[in-house]
Amino acid sequence: MAHDKTLEAVIDAIDVNAAVPVEEPMRQYYYIKKCRQIVEEKKASLGRKLTAAVITFGCQMNARDSEKLTGILELIGYEVTGNENADFVIYNTCTVRENANTRVYGRLGQLKKIKSTRREMMIAMCGCMMQEPEVVEKIRTSYRHVDLIFGTHNIFKFAELLYSRFKSRSMIIDIWKDTNQIVEDLPVDRKYSFKTGINIMFGCNNFCSYCIVPYVRGRERSRAPEDIVREIKKVVSEGVVEVMLLGQNVNSYGKNLENPITFAALLKEIEKIEGLRRIRFMTSHPKDLSDELIEVMRTSKKICRHLHLPLQSGSTRILNEMNRHYTKEDYLELVRKIKTACPDISLTTDIIVGFPGETEEDFLETLDVVEKVRFDSAYTFIYSKRTGTKAAAMENQVPEAVVKERFDRLLNLVQTISAEVTMRDTGKVMEVLVEEQNDHDASLVSGRLSNNLIVHFPGSTDLIGKIVSVSLDECKGFYYMGHMV
Ligand code: SAH
Ligand code: SF4
Ligand code: F3S
Repeated sequence: MAHDKTLEAVIDAIDVNAAVPVEEPMRQYYYIKKCRQIVEEKKASLGRKLTAAVITFGCQMNARDSEKLTGILELIGYEVTGNENADFVIYNTCTVRENANTRVYGRLGQLKKIKSTRREMMIAMCGCMMQEPEVVEKIRTSYRHVDLIFGTHNIFKFAELLYSRFKSRSMIIDIWKDTNQIVEDLPVDRKYSFKTGINIMFGCNNFCSYCIVPYVRGRERSRAPEDIVREIKKVVSEGVVEVMLLGQNVNSYGKNLENPITFAALLKEIEKIEGLRRIRFMTSHPKDLSDELIEVMRTSKKICRHLHLPLQSGSTRILNEMNRHYTKEDYLELVRKIKTACPDISLTTDIIVGFPGETEEDFLETLDVVEKVRFDSAYTFIYSKRTGTKAAAMENQVPEAVVKERFDRLLNLVQTISAEVTMRDTGKVMEVLVEEQNDHDASLVSGRLSNNLIVHFPGSTDLIGKIVSVSLDECKGFYYMGHMV
């Protein structure tokens, strides 16, 4: 993607021989320029370009961070590719469940082999896993081929840290325990030209008893509404038509601002932005989903007909142990209100199976909610014990075989219902935002409905980024085949 021309000009004007600026983001612009000089020298001496790859392991917030890293790398002069056989590889890690960590260590082992054949290669590790001291210790001692480690709170310092690594021979480790700083106006390279994630808040204060996110992402902090609106206006002027507002609990947006504002009020402001066609957000915590928000969703022309509303469990007793602050009945009542206000809404959810102490009766309550709500889809997870969380210390962990058996039953139910619910729009004509050429058949393009379902239909690549009307001819389980009308 093209660089931001004004940012280019600001960086070009920087005098690298002057004192290092103290203020952000100027300080990082300065280091981007310093790194750029080093990369230019390396390129000249090698007689070729330098490549970099940012690999994302986590959620949408993690992916958005990767876009920020990519934006910085491009300004520094790297050609960013998806291929790990590169001069600089950055792993942006996730630690929400144990298997996320296992994947990272596996890939890091593979990378050692590549590095042994590439003399110039550098490896950086960042993201949520790096906020766990035992992880950093393990990498420091057992993965000596890593060059740079930083965390979630100082990601904005990437250029400065990279410069330190260029100047030093040893592994650089810089982890902050927490921060209340939000650095605006750093470069970002968007993966898609027509849609993008927008952070509206960082961190989480909820401390659900199973969850590590509050420990690795720090306390909740909201961006100022003016900064959010300014960013969205800018990306819209560059061709973006759909934004996904990101936060661990968007429904508590704005509470800690100097001039408090609700998430619903923020949405109303964003709705006014001309040229913006679709607004999505994630994630909504049921405990904070207000009537005001439901009303804004009901009347909005731009908010998509999709709500991701994590249930976690259908048992009030387990929800209490999870520290979720709602009951089974609260959740069902919330769903009733939302479906009344927006009958065509698609509801999706997250469910954890095997939380400590979960009995067969508790599990049946979860199945009951799934049957009553009839989710369009549900992400089902096996409970994973995260060191340091309250649930990890609970004694009554459920045996693996029992969890596995419950998980299979849940998945079965979820999939059966999903196939039935998904079909409901067969034969209708709906708007699709075209996202890409189909992977398997180049004569097709693929896009999304407002309710987030995927539709494949015959069309050419110049439709990408456009919103077109498509007849939904046939439902194939979790996607549609259609044709443009
Ligand atoms: N902030 C979001 C969730 C972020 S984590 C929210 O509150 O909804 C995404 C999902 O991972 C969670 O909804 C939960 O279902 C799952 N998850 C989190 N911690 C987990 C754990 N220890 N074991 C299994 N699943 C977990
Ligand atoms: Fe984790 Fe709960 Fe925060 Fe979501 S709301 S990130 S599940 S602690
Ligand atoms: Fe994973 Fe961190 Fe997101 S732990 S789910 S990448 S906030």
